[in-house]
Amino acid sequence: MKSAFDVYGMLARSDYSPTIQAGRRNIQADAENLVADDVAAKLGLRPEHSLLEIGCGPGALLCPLAERAAQATGVDHPDVLAHIRAHCKKGEVTLIAGRFPELTLPDTYDRIVAYSVLHYMTDYAAVEQFIDAALQYLNPRGRLLLGDLPNSDKAARFRAGEEGKAFERAWQERMKGEVAHGDPFEVFSGIATCSFSDERIMRLVSRYRDAGYDTYVLPQPVELPYGHTREDIVLYAP
Ligand SMILES: C[S@@+](CC[C@H](N)C(=O)[O-])C[C@H]1O[C@@H](n2cnc3c(N)ncnc32)[C@H](O)[C@@H]1O
Repeated sequence: MKSAFDVYGMLARSDYSPTIQAGRRNIQADAENLVADDVAAKLGLRPEHSLLEIGCGPGALLCPLAERAAQATGVDHPDVLAHIRAHCKKGEVTLIAGRFPELTLPDTYDRIVAYSVLHYMTDYAAVEQFIDAALQYLNPRGRLLLGDLPNSDKAARFRAGEEGKAFERAWQERMKGEVAHGDPFEVFSGIATCSFSDERIMRLVSRYRDAGYDTYVLPQPVELPYGHTREDIVLYAP
């Protein structure tokens, strides 16, 4: 059965923009440029750190973050990684092709991020397996950021208010131009993904606190591509 990982490989072989290939709408391209700063702050990324991005896409985060780290490694589908070679001009970047956690990585890292990736797991059990495996590669006192988790309860709270309703109307209007010649994300229809809710977010916090990690839910600035409806979880290793 085809997975989201395979579909992103397919998108990478298309002529769509890097923003579409990173799972965002073209109308979010400016907002996308703000994500790396937010991720760097949440990771507490410093020049001496080694960084791993799992599901790095075409490099919207990996390239700017690599410039702020001692060394950066990206993992993704081989056809997706082909774009990074063209985009990352500075910083030391290692690319490893494969589906996590099925592959074995050669190193451990001070900082790990999986941004806008976990909802592409086939179910919640796969999300926990992914995080458990990522923690095996985290150095002591390292941080793991699980970024851009779409929380359906958070989205419902936002859309219930006047600001959310106005945002939704404006979004639908802007989307008319975006999909005028077809919707590139149609290719995801029928692909199994994992949804998040308040209960699942809290379950993750509880699970990793019990495992010995200080674990926090962090809000996103609303200026980010999905800042109104998504949130992040950060784990601090002991
Ligand atoms: C929405 S894109 C996000 C890309 C990048 N993190 C960003 O925010 O710009 C999700 C990426 O995760 C990758 N991905 C999904 N499942 C994966 C897995 N199991 N292992 C590695 N990469 C995966 C996809 O191929 C895709 O490139």
